[in-house]
Amino acid sequence: MNVLIDTIDPDDLGELADFHDAGHGTADDFLADMLNGLRQAQKEISCKYFYDKRGSALFDEICDLEEYYPTRTELSILATRAPEIASLAGPAAHLVEFGSGSSSKVRLLLNAMEAPSSYVAVDISRDHLIASTRDLASEYLDIDVVPVCADYTREFELPTGLQGKNVTGFFPGSTIGNFAPEQAATFLGRWAKVLGSGAGLVIGVDLKKPRALLEAAYNDARGVTAEFNENLLVRANTELNADFDLSAFAHDARWNEAAGRIEMHLVSQRDQTVNIADQAFNFQADETIHTENSHKYGLAEFTDMAGRAGWDAPATWTDPNNLFSVHFLRAR
Ligand code: TRP
Repeated sequence: MNVLIDTIDPDDLGELADFHDAGHGTADDFLADMLNGLRQAQKEISCKYFYDKRGSALFDEICDLEEYYPTRTELSILATRAPEIASLAGPAAHLVEFGSGSSSKVRLLLNAMEAPSSYVAVDISRDHLIASTRDLASEYLDIDVVPVCADYTREFELPTGLQGKNVTGFFPGSTIGNFAPEQAATFLGRWAKVLGSGAGLVIGVDLKKPRALLEAAYNDARGVTAEFNENLLVRANTELNADFDLSAFAHDARWNEAAGRIEMHLVSQRDQTVNIADQAFNFQADETIHTENSHKYGLAEFTDMAGRAGWDAPATWTDPNNLFSVHFLRAR
């Protein structure tokens, strides 16, 4: 872990301080997870495989959709509260983002913070990570920008040198909602230890609201979310030699009130058999592959969970319509 990899030409690092690769998210992982997921009674594919180059680009498009309120709402909260966040984070902070994607939201924080020391970007999508952090590093010459290619849902180490420093984590986008509550609590507990007592965590959490608003956000009229969902099958076909017939699976997103979550599925349009690596998987008409959950929380529901995981919540902010929340947590 935390090996400084040598397959990337040092000249390609541009302004980047260095590069860490935990070796997660390989083709072997993808195949093993895929076969295992499709063997379950309720077939499933892990959402972490959405984010290849095309998936990452489609995701950025989702964030700009009219129906998809979370991104712009969270950005407006971050913009309004940036001075308060900066003062809670304190001077010379090291900012660690889990799932940094295109590293766009973090700019709001870096611009407001007092002389931030470093920005550590953790993401599973290697090429996207390098491209995004290189861009950022060329704009923020005074900040050490450190990409860490890792699956943050697994145990991984932060770059050495952060121990005992002023550290703030950043986990925007309600990505915490993409995990089951028990698992979310496990990550929060682990991060409290990894970031250290006294560390901050700026976390975006989508709120419960009426079904129609929620379902529209995940069933956009232009079909971008559908394309994003189906990209899992495109990846399986190209990377794992699978033979999914893309026209025979349809995107579906529904609010599961009892579980408090949006569920995304790919619905088989007929009885069919799909082959992956010499294994055959049978689908009945209307049988689904469950690809993602997006849990929504109440404000106290979330801060109670964070509290049990070792975090105090000194500040909680929402937008005027109570669509979305941003919390500043502090590790006990
Ligand atoms: N975490 C965000 C959410 O659940 C963003 C997201 C993750 C998303 N996967 C998605 C949005 C799939 C739409 C579709 O809303």
